[in-house]
Amino acid sequence: MQRFSFVCVATALFFGKVTHSCFTYDQHQSIIIKTGSSFYQECHCIEPGASVNNLKWIDPSGHEIQEMGLDTKLNVYTEKQARSISLHIPQLSKTISGPYQCVTTHQGKKYSSTFLIEAYDPAYFVNTTRKQYIIAGQDSMVHCHARGETEPLITWYKEGEEDESVQIVNNDKYEVQDRGLKIKRVTDNDNGTYKCTASVLDTGEEVDRLINVEVILSPIIEEIRVTPNTSVVVGTTVTIECIADGFPHPEYIWTKTSEKVPSENITWDQDINAITFESIEPSDQGKYECKASNIAGESKKEVSIEVLLPPTILEFSNVTALEGSTVQVVCRVSGRPVPDVKLIPNSPEILTDTDIIFDHKIISETENIIVVTFTLAKRSYEGVYYCNASNEVDSAEEEMYVDILYKPHFEIGQESIWGWIGKSVNLSCEFDSDPPGTIEWRFQGNDVETDEQVAINKLLNPDPTPELFVPFTIDRKSLFGIYECIAKNEHGKSKKSITIKEAFAPPVIDNVKLKEITASSVTFDIRGPNITEGPGVVGYTTEYDEEENYKITSIHRNRTWSVERPYRVEKLKPRTKYFFKFAAINVVGVGAWSESVTVVTLERTVPDPPIWEEEVKSMELKAEAIGNVLKWKVPDSDDPIDTYYLKYCPVQNENVNILVDLCKEQTIAPSSQINLDYLEQNTTYYIELIAHNAQGNSSAADLYMKTAAREESTSPLTAEGMIGLSLVVVVLCILALDLVLLCWRRQGLIASCYYRKKKNRNDDNLMSRDKKGLLRDSGIATAADDTLKKSHQEFEYNKTTGVITGKHSSV
Ligand SMILES: *[C@@H]1O[C@H](CO)[C@@H](O)[C@H](O)[C@H]1NC(C)=O
Ligand SMILES: *[C@@H]1O[C@H](CO)[C@@H](O)[C@H](O)[C@H]1NC(C)=O
Ligand SMILES: *[C@@H]1O[C@H](CO)[C@@H](O)[C@H](O)[C@H]1NC(C)=O
Ligand SMILES: *[C@@H]1O[C@H](CO)[C@@H](O)[C@H](O)[C@H]1NC(C)=O
Ligand SMILES: *[C@@H]1O[C@H](CO)[C@@H](O)[C@H](O)[C@H]1NC(C)=O
Ligand SMILES: *[C@@H]1O[C@H](CO)[C@@H](O)[C@H](O)[C@H]1NC(C)=O
Ligand SMILES: *[C@@H]1O[C@H](CO)[C@@H](O)[C@H](O)[C@H]1NC(C)=O
Ligand SMILES: *[C@@H]1O[C@H](CO)[C@@H](O)[C@H](O)[C@H]1NC(C)=O
Ligand SMILES: *[C@@H]1O[C@H](CO)[C@@H](O)[C@H](O)[C@H]1NC(C)=O
Ligand SMILES: *[C@@H]1O[C@H](CO)[C@@H](O)[C@H](O)[C@H]1NC(C)=O
Ligand SMILES: *[C@@H]1O[C@H](CO)[C@@H](O)[C@H](O)[C@H]1NC(C)=O
Repeated sequence: MQRFSFVCVATALFFGKVTHSCFTYDQHQSIIIKTGSSFYQECHCIEPGASVNNLKWIDPSGHEIQEMGLDTKLNVYTEKQARSISLHIPQLSKTISGPYQCVTTHQGKKYSSTFLIEAYDPAYFVNTTRKQYIIAGQDSMVHCHARGETEPLITWYKEGEEDESVQIVNNDKYEVQDRGLKIKRVTDNDNGTYKCTASVLDTGEEVDRLINVEVILSPIIEEIRVTPNTSVVVGTTVTIECIADGFPHPEYIWTKTSEKVPSENITWDQDINAITFESIEPSDQGKYECKASNIAGESKKEVSIEVLLPPTILEFSNVTALEGSTVQVVCRVSGRPVPDVKLIPNSPEILTDTDIIFDHKIISETENIIVVTFTLAKRSYEGVYYCNASNEVDSAEEEMYVDILYKPHFEIGQESIWGWIGKSVNLSCEFDSDPPGTIEWRFQGNDVETDEQVAINKLLNPDPTPELFVPFTIDRKSLFGIYECIAKNEHGKSKKSITIKEAFAPPVIDNVKLKEITASSVTFDIRGPNITEGPGVVGYTTEYDEEENYKITSIHRNRTWSVERPYRVEKLKPRTKYFFKFAAINVVGVGAWSESVTVVTLERTVPDPPIWEEEVKSMELKAEAIGNVLKWKVPDSDDPIDTYYLKYCPVQNENVNILVDLCKEQTIAPSSQINLDYLEQNTTYYIELIAHNAQGNSSAADLYMKTAAREESTSPLTAEGMIGLSLVVVVLCILALDLVLLCWRRQGLIASCYYRKKKNRNDDNLMSRDKKGLLRDSGIATAADDTLKKSHQEFEYNKTTGVITGKHSSV
């Protein structure tokens, strides 16, 4: 601007030298001035005597320019001085540009001087900010664009460290363009201050602009970090962080991209580059996008969030259905991931039924359904069912109840019971039904309407509330017959019929057989009578007595057995004639008596020999195991056994003869065992046992047994032992002396004994006998016992049929 005014003054001086009359100035001057600046020009006539009053300024439109008044403000005005008149343009604009003339008349001559004033616009920068950014890694422009009167020429400089500036020329790195400087492959070193200079050749004007250039980096999203996880359980706090590089630091914008129409409700809180869901909801599942942007650019990245839901049972409701209809049990569950679903009936065997159809399908991303169809509902399906849904989050369980409705049902549809006059009878009409039903009783149908039946029907149906039992006492023949119970509910009715049949006591028994006879007892074999119509036989009774008593009294002894017992009568007299008659018994009562049976009891005898118990027999010679205890079965005996005789004899072993001298005898009170601990230990004994009753001795039961060996005390010789030992030594010495005497002179103790004993040897041999004969020798002979039994037997009966006719007795 200074240069420009200098040019202006120079022009004025140059023209001033060319002198025309009156004006020192050239008649035509061109003056270029920047718009907005002021212009001032004096004008005076140099001719002597020229009056200042003849001077005036004419504007481009030919009008005289007025002097500046006190109260007027003109953008062009004049001012008179002593000898000159000056033109003032305080603020030049293009509209008031043009030729301004100073004119005067002097001595009749006209003079004029013209100033062509042209305004021009100054150079200026457009779109040239003082702070600019270039993007690292790519070609970037530093903008600088200037305008002036003519297109300015742009020159670029880079400011160095110590205020030196280096002009930039086109090369590998830079390319000066119309609207700016292109920097290729921007690096961090391209940071700094650049100067853009614009020069206008026409006006010589030159303007600078310092541009602070910063290298920036477009954001790059490295990672989207989700804490704790991209798949989370509903309700957890989830943070999604967008980790991005970029300079200056990017700004972050989050959007939920999985929603077509973005919701106005933001369910998250954003803090710089992260968003947080305080408590994530199912609807928060979806894709989220992070957009990081700065002036250098933007970058986007997406992440998917899955919200896991614990299983919920949406539908599992009670079902009520009629038996035989089709029933569906439905369990619908939801959750994420889709839960597994299980249907569990109370009784698992139901599910194996072939009438059941299972259907199991996943109906949506989160829902699963299980449908169990019972094509033919049964009463067994009734009960509690559980639905169990589980996924990796949790499990849920619910129960429902299947209620099967059905018409009354009788466990037994027909029943027959026995009755007799005086008997109380319960008529049961127990039935199952759902819902509960009512019952109605009928007797002998409805068609037969005797007064009596009407009365019974009234008795059976006393009030409308159902009774399971109708107990009544049969007091008339007419009460036997068919009773019907009809149970009803809204789903139908069922009928049960109960027949009360008249029952009778059993008929006469005709096949009693004799099974066993002894001196004091008789055992019978009784069968029948077969009863097909009526209550079965529960027992038998017999009335019996001695023949003589029938002449004296009509009251006789009796005995009653329940069936399957030994039909035995005891405490009879021996060798006596008895009469027995029998009758069968059932619930109704005792049947008629049979014909009499005659029985003669046997003669009394001695007891049978005792029989060793199995353990004693098998443990022969092994007393250790049974502890020296002898056991036997009490033998059969008409008269009670009053004593046992026990005889025991030590023997070398089983096969040698028994030395009667060594035998001992003892009596034992009636018993079935005896402890023989008092016998010598570790010794074999021969043992005989005889039972005795009023009739005499039984034959003997015999046995070898070896007594148990007791623990020996094996202590060394005691003081007494020593004394005993020395005594033995003394005796031996005497014996030796005696032997010497015997051999030498046939004298001494041994010699005298030897010769006396020799005479008795034959007697000793007589004393050892056959082992079986021991007690017989000392007691009475029993060999005849068996024949005795037979000779006393006066009663005979047919052994093949077992029938007693009472006439075959030999008496
Ligand atoms: C400045 O630059 C912008 C775009 O770069 C352009 O739209 C605008 O017209 C420019 N202004 C001028 C005055 O040239
Ligand atoms: C670029 O320059 C600015 C200021 O001039 C400075 O703050 C910034 O650190 C510089 N950057 C580099 C990469 O030199
Ligand atoms: C989420 O976390 C679970 C265990 O905490 C892990 O098994 C699973 O792989 C994780 N899922 C993802 C997408 O990181
Ligand atoms: C936004 O939230 C309001 C209240 O919380 C609710 O009434 C509205 O339906 C929600 N809008 C959408 C699109 O979810
Ligand atoms: C339901 O399923 C879960 C997981 O399988 C199990 O722990 C639970 O015992 C089940 N409940 C029943 C009643 O079966
Ligand atoms: C389902 O049936 C059971 C047993 O009858 C009953 O306790 C329960 O209240 C019923 N539930 C509903 C929802 O009716
Ligand atoms: C009849 O039923 C009643 C009540 O249940 C019972 O007490 C009685 O013993 C029954 N009588 C008979 C003969 O079954
Ligand atoms: C009686 O019943 C038995 C079996 O119970 C049978 O063997 C026998 O023949 C029947 N007797 C008569 C006469 O019906
Ligand atoms: C059976 O004998 C007993 C006495 O022993 C007597 O009281 C009872 O009446 C007798 N019964 C019959 C049916 O004769
Ligand atoms: C029992 O006596 C026999 C010979 O009679 C003998 O060999 C055996 O050792 C004795 N046993 C005991 C335990 O004393
Ligand atoms: C029975 O035997 C014992 C022992 O042998 C004997 O003492 C008794 O006299 C005998 N009794 C009769 C009646 O023979």
